[in-house]
Amino acid sequence: MNTIEFRQVFKSFGPVNAINGLNLQIEEGSVHALLGHNGAGKTTSLRLMLGLLEADEGSVSVFGLHPVADGGAVRTMCGVLSENTGLYEPLTLYDNLIYYADIYGMQREDSNRRIDELLERLGLSDKKFIAIKGFSTGMKKKAALARAMLHSPRILLLDEPTSGLDPVSTADLRELLQNLSKERNTTIIMTTHNLEEVQKVCDSISILRHGQNIFSDSISKLEESRHYTEHGVFSLEKLYMDVEARP
Ligand SMILES: Nc1ncnc2c1ncn2[C@@H]1O[C@H](COP(=O)(O)OP(=O)(O)O)[C@@H](O)[C@H]1O
Ligand SMILES: [Mg+2]
Repeated sequence: MNTIEFRQVFKSFGPVNAINGLNLQIEEGSVHALLGHNGAGKTTSLRLMLGLLEADEGSVSVFGLHPVADGGAVRTMCGVLSENTGLYEPLTLYDNLIYYADIYGMQREDSNRRIDELLERLGLSDKKFIAIKGFSTGMKKKAALARAMLHSPRILLLDEPTSGLDPVSTADLRELLQNLSKERNTTIIMTTHNLEEVQKVCDSISILRHGQNIFSDSISKLEESRHYTEHGVFSLEKLYMDVEARP
C-alpha cells in the first residue's frame, strides 16, 4: 500500500529545531489530522511533503517519491490549501481558476466542467464571475479549496482549512472531504485546532510537539479502546488534553 512516510526527520531554521526526529506514516486514501499547539511543526511537515523544504536529516517519502528530487511529480500529485490562498484578488473566481487549470495543462473543456462541478459542490456557483476581493474570509477559503482540487489531486494538503469558516461552511467542507476520500480514494492531510471536526471527518490523527510525533492512532481504534472517554463516549478533546499534559 502507498504511504506518506517520515523517518527520523530533522529540519532546523537557524537555531530553531522545527522538526526534531519526526516519524510519521499516513496510509493512502485516509483522512489524517496533524494536531499540536502553535509552533509544533505542522506547517513545516506539510512543506517537507511538498518538497518546498528539504530535510536536514532523515527521509520523507510520498508514495515512494522523494519530494525534492521528484519535486515536479510530487507537487502535481498534491493539491494545497495554505495560509496564502494563491488567488489574485482583482480577478474573478473563474479567471483565477482557469489560470491555474491552464498551468496544470488541463483542456479548456475539462477545466470548465471541473470548475462548474467544484463551484456547485462548494456552494460558490453564483460567485463565479465576481472578483475575489469582494469575498468574505470563508468564501476565499472555499475558493482556495476549489483551486487546490482543480486537477483532482491524489493528495490534498490542507493547512487549517476550517479556520475562518462558519459552522455551515465547515459542515459542507466536512461532507466534501468525506466524499472525496470515499469516491476517489484521495489522501487528505489536514492541520487544524478544531477537534470536534477531526473526530467527525478524520480516520487517523497524529499529535506533534516540538517537531516530534508524540501520539498516532486511528479514530476507530481509539473509539473502541474505551480510553479518553467523556460520559462514556470517546472524546478527542480529552485525549488531546491528556497527551499534551504528559511531560
Ligand atoms: N521559515 C522559517 N524560518 C524560521 N523559523 C521557522 C520557519 N518556519 C517555521 N519556523 C519555526 O519552526 C517552528 C514550527 O513552525 P510551524 O511548522 O509553522 O508550526 P505549526 O504549523 O505547528 O504552528 C516554529 O518555532 C516556527 O517559528
Ligand atoms: Mg501552521
